[in-house]
Amino acid sequence: MSEAIIEVSQLTKQFKSKIAVNKADFKIGKGEIFGLIGQNGAGKSTLLKMIAGLMYPTSGEIKLFNRTMKDSHPYFERIGILIENAGLFPHYNAYENLDLIAISYGLTNRKSHINKLLKLVGLDVSNKSKVKNYSMGMKQRLGIAAALIGSPDVLILDEPINGLDPQGISEIRRMILELNKAGMTIIISSHILEELSKIATQYAILHQGEVIEHHSREQLLLQCEDRIEIEVEKASWAVPILEQNLNINHYKVIGEHVVYIYDSHIETQHIIKSLVENGVMVHSITKHKQSLEQYFLARTGSGGGSHD
Ligand SMILES: Nc1ncnc2c1ncn2[C@@H]1O[C@H](COP(=O)(O)OP(=O)(O)OP(=O)(O)O)[C@@H](O)[C@H]1O
Ligand SMILES: [Mg+2]
Repeated sequence: MSEAIIEVSQLTKQFKSKIAVNKADFKIGKGEIFGLIGQNGAGKSTLLKMIAGLMYPTSGEIKLFNRTMKDSHPYFERIGILIENAGLFPHYNAYENLDLIAISYGLTNRKSHINKLLKLVGLDVSNKSKVKNYSMGMKQRLGIAAALIGSPDVLILDEPINGLDPQGISEIRRMILELNKAGMTIIISSHILEELSKIATQYAILHQGEVIEHHSREQLLLQCEDRIEIEVEKASWAVPILEQNLNINHYKVIGEHVVYIYDSHIETQHIIKSLVENGVMVHSITKHKQSLEQYFLARTGSGGGSHD
């Protein structure tokens, strides 16, 4: 991971008896696209609001740009956020909405900045219709433009593709990749891992307020790749046989007895025969195939979080 831009330690938010976020620990690297995945009620919005400075934690710490947030309030201004409904004024048009935010930031040269942002998010600069007449996708784009007004270093998008059609989803995805390419660190939440996997470089799974897993993109994909899992007497004895006798190079040793083989086209009988003939006892062999969604559900349970 690149240099950490955000560090969250033991971050907790409690509403009366409900612990919405429980001792979350993770780091987000500069220039990453950090995917926060969790079911309804997992605590995603609460966590993101705390990172953006919109909600005080009950306990724990957030470091932004290497400074503890308690004593560096202005650093929250380097974060732009699109959360739930974007806080747009329905009776104003897109330009007017952005202008109000630009004024609150004390920006000069507002016109060219706003027109540039409207163009960036793919909204027609000459469209003067009120936001209440906008489609869901247009509102979402305007919300992203609003989050970008202060030229932040970090952009937080809470479920930005919710309710969008496939074309809207792919346009938002393209926009995120473009912003990231220009150097912006992005945090994006979703309850669909498959969707996040198309863009995110880092992943945290949030379940009932707890970060239960944290992966790089490579680690996550490796977890879900087709593989043959073998459990043997001793993994270190099996490895030279796999390499030399079976010509298997794409494998990973998992502990003392287990090896994952990713050349999954190889017949399992061949593997067993070769190991046994060379004196390595095989306890079990299983073919393993899992989609990202199955992987996520296996960790969070299909019943999911509660919204009580
Ligand atoms: N202001 C609040 N007061 C009391 N409880 C709250 C408050 N905000 C959130 N909660 C509770 O905290 C838990 C986490 O909520 P949160 O909205 O952060 O989850 P989420 O992952 O964003 O869910 P969703 O996918 O539905 O947006 C839920 O049980 C929710 O009911
Ligand atoms: Mg939410």
